[in-house]
Amino acid sequence: MSLFWSIYVGVLIAGNLGLATFLYFYGTRVKIPIEGDGTTGHSWDNGKLRESVRKLPRWWALMSLASLVAAIGYLVLFPGFGNFKGVLGWTSAQEVRQAREENANKLDALFARYRLYSVDRLSEDDVALQYGHRLFQDNCAACHGAMAEGGYGFPALTVNGDDGDFVMATALNGRNGVMPPWGAVLGEQGVSEVANYVLSLSGSPHDAARAQAGAARFKETCVACHGADGKGSKAVGAPDLTDRSWIYGGDLASVTQSIRHGRNGIMPAWKNRLGEDQVRMIAAWLRHHTLRERPPQAAPVAAAP
Ligand code: HEC
Ligand code: HEC
Repeated sequence: MSLFWSIYVGVLIAGNLGLATFLYFYGTRVKIPIEGDGTTGHSWDNGKLRESVRKLPRWWALMSLASLVAAIGYLVLFPGFGNFKGVLGWTSAQEVRQAREENANKLDALFARYRLYSVDRLSEDDVALQYGHRLFQDNCAACHGAMAEGGYGFPALTVNGDDGDFVMATALNGRNGVMPPWGAVLGEQGVSEVANYVLSLSGSPHDAARAQAGAARFKETCVACHGADGKGSKAVGAPDLTDRSWIYGGDLASVTQSIRHGRNGIMPAWKNRLGEDQVRMIAAWLRHHTLRERPPQAAPVAAAP
């Protein structure tokens, strides 16, 4: 507050309190003329009503005095009187800081118990799962869906959610998935062929002849990131193209679009926002959830003796 406004506020407060104090003492002293019949002599409603004189009740007078004293006391102790900071030195910012510190200490004590555990071990702890689920809903669900099922532009986390280390690393550091645009490199026909090949990898509807032609191009241009078998690379964030889980849609038009113009998904880093303890809880919940969601794997066929 500038000096001008500080003085302005100070004058207003002093004026108000001064006036209230003056009225308080003046009011008890002022003499009201009283007629012989105990009224002021004023009459209302053609003389049917006469104005009588009553003293203020004692409790009312005491209460007024108490609030005056409280107001002045408050202005001495706390900030309020212009720029005067109050003799206690209290600030709301400091109170918030203190409350946050207390909260952090409380949480720290809580998380300390879990710090030694791996994500795998935590994913079997009911309390940790509850925290993890809540933290996921608060921080991740907006993009990845309430049950990590993903959405357009945001991968389903149930694909790799069982890999605790991977989830931790990705969530803490964030990730920028760079899928380069291939339209100019491959030309329209090349894009179409390779798109059909991509669709064939997951057994999605495709044109077999084009897919066959696309296989060679895929080996030339795509394997570096998506792998020779198309199963992707967690390290560069290249998705598995052989499953039916798509980030940007699995129909021919969407896949063509992905290849022609490229994609650039940005996953924010949570290291400084949530910290490792909380991200570990989320990873634990995600692992638990992923294992539960996944259809049970077919038992390996026993080799013939
Ligand atoms: C602002 C939206 C957004 C939020 C919020 C968000 N993510 Fe992501 N996340 C993304 C995008 C986009 C990608 C894909 C990035 C890429 O392609 O490299 C991604 C990728 C991931 C992946 C890699 C998935 C895979 O299988 O490759 C993981 C794991 C992940 N996020 C976890 C989380 C967790 C845990 C949280 C909450 C703490 C979170 N995300 C919050 C947008 C978000
Ligand atoms: C430099 C590494 C890299 C190369 C090379 C690359 N991709 Fe990708 N691709 C990615 C990444 C990373 C993503 C995920 C982008 C995102 O999440 O935004 C992706 C996404 C895709 C998608 C979208 C998948 C979905 O779930 O929606 C398709 C389709 C695709 N790539 C096909 C190809 C094809 C075909 C080629 C070769 C012509 C190719 N990519 C080459 C890294 C690469």
